[in-house]
Amino acid sequence: AQQIPSLKDTFKKDFGIGTALNNAQIDERDPQMTAFIARQFNMATPENIMKSALIHPGWDTYDFTMGDKLIDFGRKHNIKINGHTLIWHSQLPPFIRGIKSQDSIRTFFADHIKTVAGHYSGKVYSWDVVNEALNEDGTMRKSVFLQYLGEDFVTEAFRLAQQASPKTELYYNDYNNEQPKKRAGCIELVKKIKAAGVRIDGVGIQGHWHVGKIPLQDIEESIIQYAALGVKVMFTELDIEVLPRNFQGADVGQRMVANEQSNPYPTALPDSVQQQLAADYEALFKLFLKHKDKVTRVTFWGVNDANSWLNNWPIRGRTSYPLLFDRNNQPKPAFEKVIALK
Ligand code: XIL
Repeated sequence: AQQIPSLKDTFKKDFGIGTALNNAQIDERDPQMTAFIARQFNMATPENIMKSALIHPGWDTYDFTMGDKLIDFGRKHNIKINGHTLIWHSQLPPFIRGIKSQDSIRTFFADHIKTVAGHYSGKVYSWDVVNEALNEDGTMRKSVFLQYLGEDFVTEAFRLAQQASPKTELYYNDYNNEQPKKRAGCIELVKKIKAAGVRIDGVGIQGHWHVGKIPLQDIEESIIQYAALGVKVMFTELDIEVLPRNFQGADVGQRMVANEQSNPYPTALPDSVQQQLAADYEALFKLFLKHKDKVTRVTFWGVNDANSWLNNWPIRGRTSYPLLFDRNNQPKPAFEKVIALK
């Protein structure tokens, strides 16, 4: 049988190609899946493994088991690991809720960064040091960090990460930060960090977009404006949602779930949507290639449609088709379009 072309080889001279990985994929239970990942990707981001709730479950307890496994997996298969993420308002350890003093939050904040970034110093290629600190209007998002530490927590996080892991690239990551207002807030953050004499190497644009509605102009403006600050630009969590924006599912008890009746595409994507998805990915990769001197990495949020978080978010039981490979790792029309650009 003919081999499926490799994304990482196809774009070798242009930018890195990454995927999100989670426990099930790195324990190498499925050798075919492992080989597939190693053939397609040269970068990876832990989808959940290194988030604070999992890696720092108790005030004085850290659990590096899965993170270390991911580092080994990366070494073995020539995949560079982007740590994700040191400071984020979400997926925090539950004990944080009980902390109500500035001193304790400051202690958690500093200990967490020192310990986790220190543990992976020389092992990860880069860190998403701070994730999603901004509101849509470009102001700072309400969070336990903003509340107790003030706006400077972002710069402080980068300072501490740099100390704990001096050779690691350090990034700020967010969604919708290609939109003008949020982008302006993001540019201010980068400038503030640099003005404080602290290093920031890149800005990550998550890239959770919607089929037929890719904001190409805003994306291009963002690539140009971020690069002008002297930082790398990355697309860090790329997927294109194909389900209608107003897709709600059904109200089952307390929570919304998708069911047979409400799922718009329970078993397959209609051809018209499949073609639109392909056109969207083609347009995006065309843009990335046009700015390959500025764009250093494109990471998909999942290996294939079966592993995508969008099957369960924001409601359980949806069936989504947002990636380049289908549920059997077979290339979709979008994959063919992307490969054909080279
Ligand atoms: C998501 C994961 O994909 C899910 O498995 C998890 O339940 C919630 O988090 N922005 C981010 C990612 O920076 O960490 C999020 O990942 C998706 C949105």
